[in-house]
Amino acid sequence: MKAKLMMGGVLALASTCLFAAGSESVVAARLKTDFHTKGIAKVERLDQDPVQILCSTPDLDSVPQAQQFALEKQQRAEIKYPADGKYLGDWKKGEILAQDGRGNTWSDTPETPIGGNCYNCHRISPQEISFGTIGPSLYQYGKKKGYTEARQKEAYGRIYNSKAFNLCAPMPRFGHVGALTEAQIKDLVALLLDPESPVNK
Ligand code: HEC
Repeated sequence: MKAKLMMGGVLALASTCLFAAGSESVVAARLKTDFHTKGIAKVERLDQDPVQILCSTPDLDSVPQAQQFALEKQQRAEIKYPADGKYLGDWKKGEILAQDGRGNTWSDTPETPIGGNCYNCHRISPQEISFGTIGPSLYQYGKKKGYTEARQKEAYGRIYNSKAFNLCAPMPRFGHVGALTEAQIKDLVALLLDPESPVNK
């Protein structure tokens, strides 16, 4: 009985090592057999950029902090802020966008508008009672954080590329990957930071 248990332990240990050593290539190979280019959904989507590669490191703590900060800084430098220096759009359009999780699938065209899908991870307007909790609640965002221009710029940057502020944050990089336009991000900033938005009532 004892020997059997021990064997089990050794096998489990062996498979853990195997998994740790070769898991990335095994997973990548499996994904490539199961996922094929169809319409605008190209197989190249599986290719990871340096941020995704670093954040997929099984033992992230072993990656020097300086390396993580350098990448974060680089992501921050790539944010394109609005040339007109204005960050607030139309909160009503922002609410529609936040609700919309459609777009970028194989059955869409490059012209199909892409939604923000924000409610999937955040509580935002109190009227919407269906929301995910992967991200923090954004209800009363402006009321709690203030309505300053600096705050607007920060919200714009975080929606454009949250990984520029917290490298391995699980929030999609909406502006960085070209999913949302400047005008759309402004509408979302307004949803969060316009005093008239239901978020701040
Ligand atoms: C897959 C889940 C996910 C989606 C979808 C998502 N977020 Fe996030 N969001 C997060 C997480 C997780 C954080 C916390 C990031 C961190 O720790 O830095 C966050 C942080 C934020 C912050 C910063 C909050 C703060 O404390 O200042 C803002 C603003 C924000 N999200 C807005 C949005 C908007 C607007 C959308 C839709 C366009 C959106 N998020 C979509 C997961 C998500």
